[in-house]
Amino acid sequence: MDQFEVTGGARLAGRVAAAGSKNAVLPIMAAALLTDEPLVIHNVPALRDVATLALILEQLGVTATREGSTLTLHADPTGPSRASYDLVSTMRASICVLGPLIARRGKAAVSMPGGCVFGVRPVDQHVKGLNALGAGITVDEGYLVARSGGRLHGADLYLGTHFGPSVLATGNVLMGAVLAEGTTRIENTAMEPEVTALARCLVSMGAKIEGIGSHRLIVEGVERLHGAEVTIEGDRIEAGTFLVGAAMTGGEVTVTGIDPYQLTAVAETLRLMGAQIDHGETWMTVAAADRLRATDVTTLPFPGFPTDLQAQIMAAMCVAEGISVVSERIFPDRFMHIAELLRLGARIRKEGTQAIVEGAPRLSGATVMASDLRASAALVLAGIVAEGTTTVRRVYHIDRGYERIDARMAELGARIERMEQPPLEKHRPEW
Ligand code: EPZ
Repeated sequence: MDQFEVTGGARLAGRVAAAGSKNAVLPIMAAALLTDEPLVIHNVPALRDVATLALILEQLGVTATREGSTLTLHADPTGPSRASYDLVSTMRASICVLGPLIARRGKAAVSMPGGCVFGVRPVDQHVKGLNALGAGITVDEGYLVARSGGRLHGADLYLGTHFGPSVLATGNVLMGAVLAEGTTRIENTAMEPEVTALARCLVSMGAKIEGIGSHRLIVEGVERLHGAEVTIEGDRIEAGTFLVGAAMTGGEVTVTGIDPYQLTAVAETLRLMGAQIDHGETWMTVAAADRLRATDVTTLPFPGFPTDLQAQIMAAMCVAEGISVVSERIFPDRFMHIAELLRLGARIRKEGTQAIVEGAPRLSGATVMASDLRASAALVLAGIVAEGTTTVRRVYHIDRGYERIDARMAELGARIERMEQPPLEKHRPEW
């Protein structure tokens, strides 16, 4: 198991190109199941989650070939339609094969994904939405088993959780509707850029979708979809991670290959904290000469502040001047990073779904444990500003969603080294 050794005191400075968006590429890969023709995807990031989903798709009769950052997926609709617990349980996003499997093959057995480090991750909206289209999903020994017995049919439905729209449920139901007979109107759809990217990919495959980018999608079902060639946009969450790092280390970083509009809430937060923001059509620069000021952040559905950058902005608040309040409205338990930040000398108090952060003049290095993907990135950022050395363990969490983050942070000036975790100290057997 790898770990990162981070030597603190560096300023992040320079230019970095964003890799392809993890949360855009995963549902688009699943869309390959909707057609018998090849789906060619460019700018695919080299991530563990992409490799895991490619394995699951191969289990489902899809041929996956990768050349550089281009992935070609070619589905055989007569292939197996069962996605196993072993793989699905390692990556929750695999649930997004459910909709396209049912839509194209009329049957599916997909393991329920199980929880993750920041709490229960229900899939009731996925099931409700697809069953409204006639999927006939039941739970059988931990698997979501669909027996539509034929073509799905259009429906009018509302998708909503206690926390607002659902990103992957929107994707699943959308992929169920594109081949359904008739019209489907989905109210309260998620409008995250990754949902927009999926919808545009489906349209390039021949789907008929109106309302892309809004909370209402109207789908005219078609008989079949053809292959397509798409390019994945830059990852806004990865970009935000580098930009928050620039602000909290008193540096200046430009991230290229992104749509700055997708980072409006993050840029506004960093501006309120005292950073200088500049951007063009496809890039954003964040600089901070002085120590950041505290501010308050509430995570919300897009275009609000993204929950996937909550841990990272909290790391910045740990060294900002003043008291900040973080309210997590999407995943109420998404605070695994607090315990680890406390080990670095942060001053944080968790109050229900809020965290009160009192900025400290400095953090001091320690050994910390990565947990969820974004919390782990926050620990790397905290290690870069902490005095002394910070060892971040279980970095396989980070490799799931960040391409070579150690090498790319080092190119920006971070002193970070990936190494094999030494064997745990042996306890004295005789005690
Ligand atoms: C997507 O997860 C992202 N993952 C997450 O990014 C992201 O944090 C999340 O959207 C919110 O933006 C991918 O796109 C692969 P949701 P998703 O359904 O779709 C509840 C990362 O780090 N809910 O929008 O699973 C749910 O528990 C990951 O890249 C239900 O109650 O999230 C949560 O509280 C982490 N019932 C809220 O809705 C459901 O059927 C929003 O979740 C589905 C969700």
